[in-house]
Amino acid sequence: AALYEPERANSKGWDITDGPTLRRLEDARAPFKTHTWSAAPIVAAASAPGDPLEVRNPANPDEIVGHVTTAEDTTIEAALAAATPWTADTEARAATLNRVADLYEQSAPELFALLAREAGKTLLDCVGEVREAVDFLRYYATQAAKCTSPGVGTVTCISPWNFPLAIFTGQIAGALAAGCAVLAKPAEQTPLVAHRAVQLMLEAGVPATALQYLPGTGATVGRALTSDPRIAAVAFTGSTPTAQTIRRAMAEHLATGAPLVAETGGINAMIIDSTALLEQAVRDVVASAFQSAGQRCSALRCVYVQDDIAPAFREMLTGAVEALTMGDPWDLATDIGPLIDEVARKNILKHLEDHDAKPLIAAPKTGTFLAPTLIEVPNVSALQREIFGPVLHIATFKADGLDQVISDINSTGYGLTFGLHTRIDSRVQDIVERIHVGNVYVNRNQIGAVVGTQPFGGEGLSGTGPKAGGPSYVARFTKDTDPGAKK
Ligand code: NAD
Ligand code: ALA
Repeated sequence: AALYEPERANSKGWDITDGPTLRRLEDARAPFKTHTWSAAPIVAAASAPGDPLEVRNPANPDEIVGHVTTAEDTTIEAALAAATPWTADTEARAATLNRVADLYEQSAPELFALLAREAGKTLLDCVGEVREAVDFLRYYATQAAKCTSPGVGTVTCISPWNFPLAIFTGQIAGALAAGCAVLAKPAEQTPLVAHRAVQLMLEAGVPATALQYLPGTGATVGRALTSDPRIAAVAFTGSTPTAQTIRRAMAEHLATGAPLVAETGGINAMIIDSTALLEQAVRDVVASAFQSAGQRCSALRCVYVQDDIAPAFREMLTGAVEALTMGDPWDLATDIGPLIDEVARKNILKHLEDHDAKPLIAAPKTGTFLAPTLIEVPNVSALQREIFGPVLHIATFKADGLDQVISDINSTGYGLTFGLHTRIDSRVQDIVERIHVGNVYVNRNQIGAVVGTQPFGGEGLSGTGPKAGGPSYVARFTKDTDPGAKK
């Protein structure tokens, strides 16, 4: 299918480098600085009340952002029983998804506030995330029209905290576009923005029986929604070990052949050779490794630099990192916000201790902050697992060592993103063909895939396909699903 859709435009977003636009956004989100939200299961039948849990700001643990009541077993059962595929014609489904996109854009200041205060996102990241969510809605609306058979039935959508609006929305919009019923389980760290998103979807006209919201942990709600035979497919984004657990549960309880669309982790690399434009490479490395505090599946974890430029690269990179500001993501001066929680921070601190590594700049004392850190390694296999934070590993290679570098990168078993900085055109072609990843970025940063033009997803341990924001995604949730679709 053609990737270019002349009838579709991506969201224009908000240009925060423009003073008047920035001031308008600031004024509009200001009332949400002290607002507290409240979330509870949204099901199309009577549900059991539960005890609300506090949701706190990772940049300031004293600040309560809201409360969430999680879904009990009886509520999950009620939702499973009420779930009904969305049988409206494809034009009506597309029109509704487009209305959701409009409501998201109108609600952007509140969504920005939720993303900042619940998920620790800077304004730059908030803008990117709302745009991506809007793009998923509008892109999958165009794909609805191409569905030639009904949706598979009830789809469980399980999402991570690091894109608590965009990925949460993308999974749901894909399954709804196909005409399925959705049971949506957000990450336990970020239930509030997901709850607001579901409210907007229902307000736009998605039927209550086609979309139900079930917050809770992976071990309880996630487990229940991946081991009930009434589930026809699962859309999952999160870590590779969780995807493996879900696959086992599905194999035991769901119909043989029920699709699992899993988008998982990566140990992503970049190669910078000595023909690269160093200033540009450093700028792109900083964005790839440290934007969003490194909490992107696409983020750069290990950069290979050719040995003759390595000293200059290190010096320039260290200077660039030292110029970054860490702090409350609500503050416009902040480049790097907090990690999502203390569990995530401890996990990375252990890795830093193992490598005797020291952060480059000071981090705020309260909140779950961790400052950017550089670690010298012999090669990417020094990373035994995905380190999900602002930690960049640096390896060097000699002119005759490129084949070994490519082999090392492929041998991680992951295959999500890869970056290359070179000015040798023939080398681009050669390396791109030999590196086994889903998304390759040449002479630019390696984050922020654009829906509809850069379908996103990995291979190997990084995902099953089809790619999110690509032309095969919606079809995977229909009865004419193509299990081989990767594009
Ligand atoms: P996670 O695997 O811990 O959790 C993801 C979701 O799975 C959460 O909603 C969680 O509650 C749920 N879950 C946990 N155990 C479960 C179980 N047994 N059954 C069902 N559901 C269960 O991941 P995370 O920490 O929330 O997110 C970070 C991870 O997500 C990283 O590995 C990152 O690379 C990955 N990620 C991948 C992509 C991609 O597109 N490939 C995008 C974003 C994040
Ligand atoms: N789609 C997100 C990115 O490309 C994960 O950074």
